[in-house]
Amino acid sequence: MMMPKFVFLCAIAFGTLVAHIGNVWGQQPAKASLEQVEAYVRNTWKSPPAGWESRIKQDETQRVCSQFRNDPPRAEYAAIKAREIATLVFPADGNVLGSWKAGEAVAQTGTGGQFSDKDDTVRGGNCYACHQMAPKELSYGTLGPSLAEYGKIRKFESAEAKAAYAKIFNAQSVLPCSSMPRFGAHKFLTEQQIKDVTAYLFDPASPVNNP
Ligand code: HEC
Repeated sequence: MMMPKFVFLCAIAFGTLVAHIGNVWGQQPAKASLEQVEAYVRNTWKSPPAGWESRIKQDETQRVCSQFRNDPPRAEYAAIKAREIATLVFPADGNVLGSWKAGEAVAQTGTGGQFSDKDDTVRGGNCYACHQMAPKELSYGTLGPSLAEYGKIRKFESAEAKAAYAKIFNAQSVLPCSSMPRFGAHKFLTEQQIKDVTAYLFDPASPVNNP
């Protein structure tokens, strides 16, 4: 009786293959230690930007988001949200809208703060890398939702503009573990730049609201 044994061996071979594929799929990406990342930066850039050492360290929110692969349980989710809301700083005079023209430059600029940039390179928000904004602009990323006609859809309401300012200041105050950068909380963009890019979304004259 050769057949049953052959079938049996085939079954084992198949089972091993499935287990192997399962292992490969289930593998976590290799983790680099902080020392390895530090060594990489020192070996790669002659003069990395000032303060780079703190930028490669995870803060508590990033640590928890990594631990739960961006899907934290309810209690951790609430803790992140409370911590990130506490970072919000609104303009002293309550006006969250600057100049949409300056905001367009903030949205379109992706340089500044990169390790290959000089310390005095003006920083941008690189919003177009992830979002559609002005409908006439052909080039944009799709990691984030389209923001075309953002203010118009929200009837240019001031409460909505304030909510957008908060979102841009600290995206995780609205959605913990969001992949959108926390531009204000990390002082990456200035208050004026955040006001300008909010105006880019909310000024009725902005190309964002004029398809
Ligand atoms: C690395 C990608 C990335 C960049 C860069 C980015 N965003 Fe986002 N943004 C997202 C993602 C993803 C979401 C949806 C998830 C969320 O709400 O956090 C989002 C959501 C938003 C929302 C809320 C949309 C809604 O549902 O009402 C606004 C407003 C926004 N982004 C504005 C901006 C602006 C302005 C900039 C530039 C200063 C910017 N984003 C840069 C990824 C990004």
